[in-house]
Amino acid sequence: MTITLVPDAIEKYAQAHTEVPAPLFEELRQTTQERMSAPQMQVGRLEGTFLRLLVRMANARRVLEIGTFTGYSALMMAEGLPEDGELITCDVDPKAEAIARDFFARSPPGKKISLRMGPALETLKTLQGPFDLAFIDADKENYSHYYDAVLPLLRPGGLLVADNTLWSGRVLEPKSESDRAIVAFNDKVAADPRVEKVLLTIRDGMMLALKR
Ligand SMILES: C[S@@+](CC[C@H](N)C(=O)[O-])C[C@H]1O[C@@H](n2cnc3c(N)ncnc32)[C@H](O)[C@@H]1O
Repeated sequence: MTITLVPDAIEKYAQAHTEVPAPLFEELRQTTQERMSAPQMQVGRLEGTFLRLLVRMANARRVLEIGTFTGYSALMMAEGLPEDGELITCDVDPKAEAIARDFFARSPPGKKISLRMGPALETLKTLQGPFDLAFIDADKENYSHYYDAVLPLLRPGGLLVADNTLWSGRVLEPKSESDRAIVAFNDKVAADPRVEKVLLTIRDGMMLALKR
């Protein structure tokens, strides 16, 4: 079962009533379309703008991201950080890395971003908390492992955000390993008394979990 959660017309209407991003974001979208084989992995305008708002609302100074891709969500969140803020983002794909580094270098908020290459579970072992906000958006099979590794790095009151947690509706009838991994992640967060959580029906589903 694969469901488009938000009809295109509604997505367009919502975009028309949302902040317009800096022109560099449209250029990044186009570059990603032209050069990457799975450009739909990019969070896009609405979710990116929402992430930036969350960073501002959390008064975040340190943000952790797992899954940089070509850098759209990282750049958006970096815009929401203060001048002395820091965003650490992790990925494994050198082709996506090249695009991300190019756009980070061309954008003033890009100087707040540190891109760490290598499997995120290894990178996480090298990081010191506390972080104010963490965004999980990488390989779905590791979502529960990322959760276990990231939660201790968040400050009390810090926000964990995970993308694709409705997985195009496949959470309702899981068949593949990634389907089952997302289901296990959602069940784990839902049952965890250490966090206050809500699973939002934005785009492909966003789990928000506030560390108590
Ligand atoms: C959905 S994309 C991230 C999209 C990004 N947040 C954006 O808005 O453009 C997922 C990314 O996770 C990366 N990834 C996959 N496995 C990984 C791993 N073990 N460690 C770190 N990154 C990984 C992929 O290379 C890919 O770029």
